[in-house]
Amino acid sequence: MGFLLAAVGSAVGLGNIWRFSYITYANGGGAFLIPYFTALITAGIPLLLLEFSLAHRFKGSAPAAYSKVGPKWEWLGWWAVVFVMFGIELYYMAIISWCLNYFFLSFGLKWGVDPNSFFFKTFLGLSSSPIKLGSIRPPIALGLTAIWFLTWIISYRGIQKGIELANKIFMPLLFVLTAILVLWSMNLKGSALGIKAYLEPDFKKLTHPKVWIDAYSQIFFTLSLAQGIMIAYASYLPEKANLTRDAITVSLMNCGYSIFAGFAVFSTLGFMATVQGKPIDAVVSQSIGLAFVAYPEAVSLMPWGSMFGAIFFFCLVVAGLSSSISLMEAFISAYIDKFGSNRKKVTTVTSIIGLLGGMVFTTQGGLHWINIVDHFITDYGLVLSGLLESVMIGWVLGTGILRDHMNDLSSVKVGTWWDISIKYIVPAVLGVIFIEAIYSGFSRPYHGYGWGEVFAIGGGWLAATVIVATALSSRPWNR
Ligand code: PHE
Repeated sequence: MGFLLAAVGSAVGLGNIWRFSYITYANGGGAFLIPYFTALITAGIPLLLLEFSLAHRFKGSAPAAYSKVGPKWEWLGWWAVVFVMFGIELYYMAIISWCLNYFFLSFGLKWGVDPNSFFFKTFLGLSSSPIKLGSIRPPIALGLTAIWFLTWIISYRGIQKGIELANKIFMPLLFVLTAILVLWSMNLKGSALGIKAYLEPDFKKLTHPKVWIDAYSQIFFTLSLAQGIMIAYASYLPEKANLTRDAITVSLMNCGYSIFAGFAVFSTLGFMATVQGKPIDAVVSQSIGLAFVAYPEAVSLMPWGSMFGAIFFFCLVVAGLSSSISLMEAFISAYIDKFGSNRKKVTTVTSIIGLLGGMVFTTQGGLHWINIVDHFITDYGLVLSGLLESVMIGWVLGTGILRDHMNDLSSVKVGTWWDISIKYIVPAVLGVIFIEAIYSGFSRPYHGYGWGEVFAIGGGWLAATVIVATALSSRPWNR
């Protein structure tokens, strides 16, 4: 149960709340569920099964398990956990800090009548370009310290008393609070308009390749795949583990949560459109715009809006924290596996480096840095890591070992469809996503930034993860 909730805790993150519903809306509403579930069945669940069985069969984190496939692959395992920890985790924490700040700002609706300019000007003090860092924003830095402290203490306490316990509290809490938001928002006037926009199917959209690419990307991202995370968690499972049943449970809970949370997001947007007499597409936005501009505005129009806003931002903090713990664990467990160091020490040192390194995202140029680093790490790094992972298992190790291992232990047996997915479907889909990302990333400057700044920051950051991974993988094993 602790493992299941921790894996769900990792999968359910900010992406489920602020990304899924928008992607659904923009890609054909209810019709999008077809590519989404196709992606889940043909790639998401197969990769999750791969990660669970690989970790369980070879009993180790990504570098340890990969090195058993062949010493040359150890590097890939390090690369995944290094960019997860020192790439994604660092800015993910800064975003959770914004959520924590907005949780407190909800009381009294501190953003006033213009949440847009409050967020960009007053809160972030956003500079005009990534090379203008300006100063550190004290409330964001303070929030970042608090979030790092929480992540550190949970991880410091170990797997059972820390990570499992935290998720046993966080997950039920998150589900209850989300249910409150869904019921509450569906009772607001205009909610039906929002839900119609969210789910009304437009089957014509399914002929656009981009819709399918979006479905597959969302599945990889939401299930926390190809990042050494699920591998780290599954490496702690006992000898007897029902691997396939667990993988199916985790995916269904994660995707079910996304669909459910979408009702709260779109009911609220429908309410705002109705009150302001605007068409729904004029109020819809995703990710940062949804959480820090659209939602605050909607909340200020609602009776008891402070309360609603506080619950919403608290949900983001809880969903974010349970994911951030897992992002860090991917690295910590890898380090302990290889160097045999003590968990408390590794956690403390890693958290301090993480906090200091993450400070760049709390500056006035922070949002620009988040955009660029996120683009390089998730659009290129993550996709490449998943591609190589499936090639490694499908073509080097061979799928048979892991399939036999799963089938020996689990109640739900997997057949050759799994081998086909790992050998052909996953590499093909990730290959297409990678080429598309390179093509669109190189055809126009990202987000309108200059080429020089994009490559210096994003490319530099990615290159640094390669250097650190190489250094760690070339050291001798200490266990
Ligand atoms: N799966 C989580 C989400 O959707 C956590 C995650 C964070 C995954 C960052 C990848 C990168 O938010």
